[in-house]
Amino acid sequence: MLGPFLAEGDILGHEPMGVVEEVGAGVTSLTPGDRVVMPFQISCGSCYMCERGLQTQCETTQVRGEGMGAALYGYTRLYGSVPGAQAEYLRVPHADYNPIKVPEGPPDDRFVYLSDVLPTAWQAVEYAAIPDGGTVVVLGAGPIGDMASRIAAHRGHRVVTVDLVPERLDRVRRFGAETIDLREQDADDLGDIVRNLTDGRGPDSVIDAVGMEAHGSPGGKMAQTMAAVMPDALAEKVMKKGGVDRLAALHSAVDIVRRGGTVSVIGVYGGTADPMPMLTMFDKQLTFRMGQANVRRWVDDIMPLLTDEDPLGVDGFASHRVPLEEAPQAYETFQKKREDAAKIVFIP
Ligand SMILES: NC(=O)c1ccc[n+]([C@@H]2O[C@H](COP(=O)([O-])OP(=O)(O)OC[C@H]3O[C@@H](n4cnc5c(N)ncnc54)[C@H](O)[C@@H]3O)[C@@H](O)[C@H]2O)c1
Ligand SMILES: [Zn+2]
Repeated sequence: MLGPFLAEGDILGHEPMGVVEEVGAGVTSLTPGDRVVMPFQISCGSCYMCERGLQTQCETTQVRGEGMGAALYGYTRLYGSVPGAQAEYLRVPHADYNPIKVPEGPPDDRFVYLSDVLPTAWQAVEYAAIPDGGTVVVLGAGPIGDMASRIAAHRGHRVVTVDLVPERLDRVRRFGAETIDLREQDADDLGDIVRNLTDGRGPDSVIDAVGMEAHGSPGGKMAQTMAAVMPDALAEKVMKKGGVDRLAALHSAVDIVRRGGTVSVIGVYGGTADPMPMLTMFDKQLTFRMGQANVRRWVDDIMPLLTDEDPLGVDGFASHRVPLEEAPQAYETFQKKREDAAKIVFIP
């Protein structure tokens, strides 16, 4: 979907970890040899926004020319054209603040998800404001929905996770979630199915971990397909002025959540003219929270769970480990959800 903003030669990748090779003259908190994980966004740590835990809005790195928030690694011109991390070396700005130093000993897999999956899923659960003894429905069981389901279940909430990929649903069931397989249900019936599971009322909270590439949104799909075949300059204008997302998951969330409940949107949307069911949103008195994860904001809360007991199952989270040279095939495997690809880690 961000295709129109991508240029040839852009280096992708925003979930890196590695070893410090060299530090700049002003850097005092790192030394070569330190083992670090990098947040996917670049923030300064000392501006108005960073001080309030809103690192994705960092006023030092905001991409003002595009009207966007903090710069991100490997994310096209829209987010500052910063060279990404699917590479052997990575240049790290604001190096005294961003890198997360991790201890020697445990395998890389223990910590690599601090870059994105863990803080993103953590924020999804925080923003969902699930009350004690409450229920959350998680739409989507990709890496983000999967981890959000694990975190919510670990906190003792009742979790019902929805997807249409059976292997992904199997993964979350092992961590205590109930599941609904959308291949066996008509998506239009989802609201009623969930209400039947929750005293006729609906869950306290819904996490949308699907975003704009949802199944089952004919209008949005057509707009995206058209954008994909347009010349980039035109597609970019269309997306920025009249872009319409595939809204199936977000509309499901509005329908499913109980009156007075909270919808936490962690799946990315990029439209500027999305039709939303305001009558229902207003009448049901819903709260919405959304946005990119403020990675640094959550690291200290998550770290105590990255122990040998591994309650969130990070050590076994990757389904595939692939040398960097095989990245193109791996992208295809993931996109088409072949070989039960749930999460792929590249090894340089
Ligand atoms: N906010 C952030 O900081 C942040 C960070 C990382 C990822 N994300 C976004 O989170 C979303 C999920 O990421 P991911 O890596 O898990 O993606 P993914 O594409 O692997 O997972 C999405 C899952 O949703 C399922 N799905 C599709 N339509 C559905 C529907 N209508 N109802 C229920 N399930 C449906 C798919 O089968 C898939 O398993 C993406 O939009 C991604 O861009 C956001
Ligand atoms: Zn800042």
